[in-house]
Amino acid sequence: MTPRIPTIVLGGTGYVAGELLRLIAGHPQFELAAIMSDSQPGESLSKAFPHLASVYADTRFKSQSEVEKLLAETPQPALFSAAPHGVSAALIDSLLGVAAKAGTRPRVVDISADFRYSSAQAYEAVYKHPHGAPKRIAEFTCAVPEHLKQLHTTHVAHPGCFATATLLASVPLLSLGVTSPTLFVSGVTGSTGAGRKPIEGTHHPVRHSDLYSYNALAHRHAPEIAACAKVASGVEADFAFVPHSGPFARGIHVTVQAALKSAIDTAKILGALREFYANCPFIRVTDQAPRVKEVATSNYAHLSAVANGRTVAVMCVVDNLNKGAAGGAVQWMNRMFGLAETAGLTAPAPGWT
Ligand SMILES: NC(=O)c1ccc[n+]([C@@H]2O[C@H](COP(=O)([O-])OP(=O)(O)OC[C@H]3O[C@@H](n4cnc5c(N)ncnc54)[C@H](OP(=O)(O)O)[C@@H]3O)[C@@H](O)[C@H]2O)c1
Repeated sequence: MTPRIPTIVLGGTGYVAGELLRLIAGHPQFELAAIMSDSQPGESLSKAFPHLASVYADTRFKSQSEVEKLLAETPQPALFSAAPHGVSAALIDSLLGVAAKAGTRPRVVDISADFRYSSAQAYEAVYKHPHGAPKRIAEFTCAVPEHLKQLHTTHVAHPGCFATATLLASVPLLSLGVTSPTLFVSGVTGSTGAGRKPIEGTHHPVRHSDLYSYNALAHRHAPEIAACAKVASGVEADFAFVPHSGPFARGIHVTVQAALKSAIDTAKILGALREFYANCPFIRVTDQAPRVKEVATSNYAHLSAVANGRTVAVMCVVDNLNKGAAGGAVQWMNRMFGLAETAGLTAPAPGWT
C-alpha cells in the first residue's frame, strides 16, 4: 500500500474547511495532518463540526506555529487554503517561506480569490486592498480542472463556485466559437455560499422562502470569470452577470445566454457539449433541464442547453461547497499528486437534501 499523503487545511472553522475535512475523511490517499484555526486553536474539531465527530473525535484545531512546525517536518504535504480572501495569500506565502527554509515541498490549492488574477494590479482593482503576496502570483494557475489538460505551475487557485458553474457552461461556447463573446449570466446560489458568519442579507430568515438579485452587473466574480474564460478558451469575453440569493443551503444554478453566430438547434448544441466534456468524469450533459438536487453535496456538474436558431441558453448546476470549492480543490490535488482525478470524489448526490 502506498503511504498516505499528509494533508493540511487552513480556514479552520469555515464551511469550506468543513467540506474539505469531510472529503479527506473518505479519501483513499489524503490523510488529515492538521487543520489550522485562527480563532480557536486547541479547540475540539467536533465542536465546530458535530457532523464530523465520528471521524475526527480526537482532533483539535492547530495554531499557525504548530502548522509551521509540521510543514517543516513533512517532505511533501498537500496544503488546502479555505481562508478568506485578503488573508489567504499572506498566510500561504508565510507557510511556503517556512517550507522553503526547511527544504520541504508542499503543493497548494487556494480556494480563496487571492491567486485568481495574473497580476496584483488586476486583483487590487477589484478587491481594493493590496495583494498579500504579489511575488507568488506566477506560482499559481486559476482554472477548473476540466479546462486545463496540463498544469505548468506548482500551485493552483480554485476559480470559485459561481465561476465553476459559469465557466463549465460558457467555455465550450467560446472555444467552439458558436456565439458572440457577450454572455448574459443569471446565477442562483444557496446560503452556504456566504460562509459561516450570519450577516444581514445572507441570514436565514431573510433568505428563506425568498429569491432576489444582488450586485447585478457589478459582482466581484465577473472579472475573475472573464480572466479564467480567456485562459481556457483564448477568447476575451464579456460576462454580464446577475447573481441571486436562493432559498436553499447548498447548490448553484447558472443560466448562460448568448446570441448564436449561425442557426444551430438544441440537438447540435447538446452534441457539442457532450463531445467537449467527453473525457470529464464529473460532467454530465442531460437532455432535460438540470436541477440543483441532482448534484447538491457532490462533485458532479450537470449541464443542459436549448437553442432556437438565434439564441442559446446553457444551464449548469453544481454544489457550491463541493465541486465549487472543496471537491474541485481535491480534484486538482489528486492530479498534482499523480492520483486518479476521481479519487475520493465519486459519491453521488443524495437526491433529497
Ligand atoms: N462558501 C462557498 O460556497 C465558497 C465557494 C468557493 C470559494 N469560497 C472561498 O473559500 C474561502 C472560505 O469560504 P467559507 O465559505 O468557508 O468562509 P467562512 O465560513 O466564513 O470561513 C472562513 C474561515 O476562515 C478563518 N479565518 C477568518 N479570518 C481569518 C484570519 N484573519 N486568518 C486566518 N483565518 C481566518 C475562520 O476560521 P478560523 O478562525 O477557525 O481560522 C473562518 O471560519 C473564502 O475565501 C471563500 O471566498 C467559498
